[in-house]
Amino acid sequence: MQWNFQDIHNQAKTQAQAIDSPQALEAFRLKYLGKKGLVAAIFASLGEADPGSKAAIGKGANDLRALVESLMAVKSAELNSAKTQEERIDISLPGTGETLGHTHILTQTMQEIILIFEQMGFVTVETPEIETEFHNFTGLNISLDHPSRDAFDTFYLDAEDPSSKGRRLLLRSHTSPGQVRIMKQHKPPMAVIVPGRVYRPDAVDASHSFMFHQIEGLLVDEKVQFSELKGLLTQFCQRFFGSRVIMRFRPHFFPFTEPSAEVDINAEILGIQRKKWLEILGCGMVNPKVFEAVGYPKGRYKGFAFGMGVERMAMLKYGINDIRLFYENDVRFLKQF
Ligand code: PHE
Repeated sequence: MQWNFQDIHNQAKTQAQAIDSPQALEAFRLKYLGKKGLVAAIFASLGEADPGSKAAIGKGANDLRALVESLMAVKSAELNSAKTQEERIDISLPGTGETLGHTHILTQTMQEIILIFEQMGFVTVETPEIETEFHNFTGLNISLDHPSRDAFDTFYLDAEDPSSKGRRLLLRSHTSPGQVRIMKQHKPPMAVIVPGRVYRPDAVDASHSFMFHQIEGLLVDEKVQFSELKGLLTQFCQRFFGSRVIMRFRPHFFPFTEPSAEVDINAEILGIQRKKWLEILGCGMVNPKVFEAVGYPKGRYKGFAFGMGVERMAMLKYGINDIRLFYENDVRFLKQF
């Protein structure tokens, strides 16, 4: 068999030019380098070739294999770069960008309040939203006949308190049960804040919701005075609302503090017309009966406590006039903060 290597090489080059897909590339490979391909056939013909031309045929087959391999390498690179051309990103085009969400205004407000107290040395502790009557009422000196214990004023669960037979669990109506829980577990001195959700079966309107947020504060030590409570809350309000804030302490009653006060903020000065004074928190000196309920030795400790409504704080600070806006998740509202 005579092989015209010149022609074979030319043919391979022409065929390689026409390759335009990975499939065509594979067909080309099989045609030359496959088991039944041309290179194999040329080697097979060596057996019948006359001795004088064997060397030339062997070299011709090897050269052909090298040529086909290099043609394939070139083509394969070409095909790959065509693919990247198609997929190429035009970096000069403006991007589409992800729209990032952000922290809800209530969470922002809570974080801001918590930070101010933490900077003053308070430690943040979270306690359960499902509570016992003891933590929510009895331990706080709220007597059995107190109206807030009524089913009208508290969400009771269909579940018995495992620690008190016949008493049902409830959704805490304030964060004050946190005081009882923490004092049962720790000895003074302590300065803690307890943020979280509280629940009251109130009809929903512009200023009421069946769920809202409070931040409780409790400081207990051997010598603590009302003036320190007043100083702390004044400092806090000035940092939260700005130094022009005007606040007042109004005498009040809570079973778990004695004496007690409510703190109002002058809304006018913050540019809110609805009402002149707005209540933001309740506070007072811890009632010795609460110390007794948590098992502290009689007369050893003094302390103060306060509980503020987070929604109220945010409404006053940002001029929000309807509490429902916080929970409706209308992006037009949320985006403003
Ligand atoms: N727990 C009271 C309330 O929800 C607020 C309060 C807390 C008052 C701590 C005094 C001390 O109204």
